Amino acid sequence: MDLNNLTLELTDRVAVVTVNRPKSLNALNPDTLAELLEVFTALGDHEDLVGVVITGSGEKAFIAGADISAMKDYGVLEGRQMGKLGHLVLDTIAAFPKPVIAAVNGFALGGGCELAMACDIRICSDNAKFGQPEVNLGVIPGFGGTQRLPRLVGTGRALELLFTGDMIDAAEAFRIGLVNRVVKQQELLPECLAIMKKISTKGPLAIQLCKDVVRTGMELDLARACRYEADLFSICFASEDQKEGMTAFLEKRKADFKNR
Ligand code: CAA
Repeated sequence: MDLNNLTLELTDRVAVVTVNRPKSLNALNPDTLAELLEVFTALGDHEDLVGVVITGSGEKAFIAGADISAMKDYGVLEGRQMGKLGHLVLDTIAAFPKPVIAAVNGFALGGGCELAMACDIRICSDNAKFGQPEVNLGVIPGFGGTQRLPRLVGTGRALELLFTGDMIDAAEAFRIGLVNRVVKQQELLPECLAIMKKISTKGPLAIQLCKDVVRTGMELDLARACRYEADLFSICFASEDQKEGMTAFLEKRKADFKNR
């Protein structure tokens, strides 16, 4: 894989993807989006993988949005193409079969906030700032912000952020449920890797099914979502993981899951 805008490191079965365009605060241009798509598509086939942590290079920005200099002269068709590519990348992350954690190490604005919201878990450093400042630029969010933000924090809070373009700090992002926890900058990656380590000790099939049923179920009404849960629950009983997990509990030992 030829990556010019990202770095990819694999340690202990966890992939760390770093958006690496520090001069533009890791803004997402079409090439970076295409690389993200390539990386997540390739990692999706990696059976042994526990999950992916995505972060930004440097200590100032996670991702300061879609690249404004790339978009400035766009016409309608290019704008549409950019929006479609952004959605494709973020939908790929949201549907990625393993857990994805956003390690938000600074500004997460516009497309950066949107990308973080497509991840399963958001952990941020105490200097992080979140916002959807698109109205300052005369546009609306284009990578799902108008949809994922209200689903995460409620319509009123989302619309206030969308109307004002205001940035909120890490403490406020935690208060409104936009991030799971706030840690010091130097603890950010270790914290995310520690979560992945814990996940790696659980039944791998169960982890994948949890993600599938939550993500799919959130798009369904409660009755259908619960029926889907019942289906996936039953599928667990076809797995070695279930036999090992329940046997280990009854034998008072730690489960040794093999099904990766
Ligand atoms: N696109 C392109 N370049 C960007 C950028 C972006 N989104 N954000 C920052 N940069 C560039 C700046 O132009 C600057 O480049 P130069 O050094 O060449 O001038 C460099 O990164 C450093 O930025 P600043 O000098 O502005 O740094 P600062 O500390 O003064 O401010 C900031 C930091 C508050 C994040 C400010 O850079 C900013 O407001 N950035 C834009 C944020 C934004 O509007 N994001 C939304 C983009 S649109 C979008 O994302 C649409 C969508 O939904 C898909």
